[in-house]
Amino acid sequence: MSVAVVTGGARGIGAGIAKRLRADGHRVAVLDVDLTGAEGDVLLDCDVASEESVTIAFDKVSSVLGVPSIVVNNAGFARDQPLHEMSLSDWDAVVDVCLRGAFLTTRLAAPAMMAAGFGRIVNISSTSALGDPERVQYVAAKSGLNGFTKAAALELGPFGVTVNAVAPGFTVTNMTVRSAARRGRTLEEHIRITAEESPVRRAGHPEDIAHAVSFFASEGAGYVTGQVLYVAGAPLG
Ligand code: NAI
Repeated sequence: MSVAVVTGGARGIGAGIAKRLRADGHRVAVLDVDLTGAEGDVLLDCDVASEESVTIAFDKVSSVLGVPSIVVNNAGFARDQPLHEMSLSDWDAVVDVCLRGAFLTTRLAAPAMMAAGFGRIVNISSTSALGDPERVQYVAAKSGLNGFTKAAALELGPFGVTVNAVAPGFTVTNMTVRSAARRGRTLEEHIRITAEESPVRRAGHPEDIAHAVSFFASEGAGYVTGQVLYVAGAPLG
């Protein structure tokens, strides 16, 4: 039984990933700043942007569940504003959670994975990495995460550690509620319109993203690394 860490795993896509990895037979630690409604084998209050918080949480995971061999860097959010109105604090907040967080967890988890000759890092990117207006910090962070994925894959590959990214398109979560409001639509309208525009004629759900994460986290995916898989109901990338 492997130990998996899912950041931002209390709700939305992260909760879907935590549920799927548990169903796959892994013991799952959920790390989140808000553990309301969270389900996992251990639940830890953790801010992924804080080196101290991540270090304490990983120590706790190792002592309670065992050393993690799977890390899913899912915690993230957007704060949409036009570039010329964006505050430095909003730039930092988004880049710190989406990008710095993935660096901090991967740096902590990698040595034990390298020593064991096995590890799986899965980063949750976004179709926004390809460009999206009024969220330059989020776009920069997610495309940075794609670059981080490829560079880390090159470094960690010789040690049996794969690093991949899953890039969701429109996926119904709390974040979608905010995206709908941004466009002046109700959530129902937003889901309907987005589904109509999608080649597969539907919206994504956390289970769709979790399915791709489950593949990258599996032992059989050892020959797949440095990839960004768009799970978006459309040919992207
Ligand atoms: P959500 O807002 O429903 O859930 C995000 C989770 O991350 C929450 O549980 C929140 O408490 C946690 N979190 C926030 N800041 C944190 C921090 N500093 N440390 C630890 N946990 C923190 O969002 P959703 O939609 O589930 O997003 C999950 C990931 O998927 C994010 O990285 C997001 O950028 C990405 N994504 C989501 C899409 C969507 O359409 N919902 C599309 C593309 C990417």
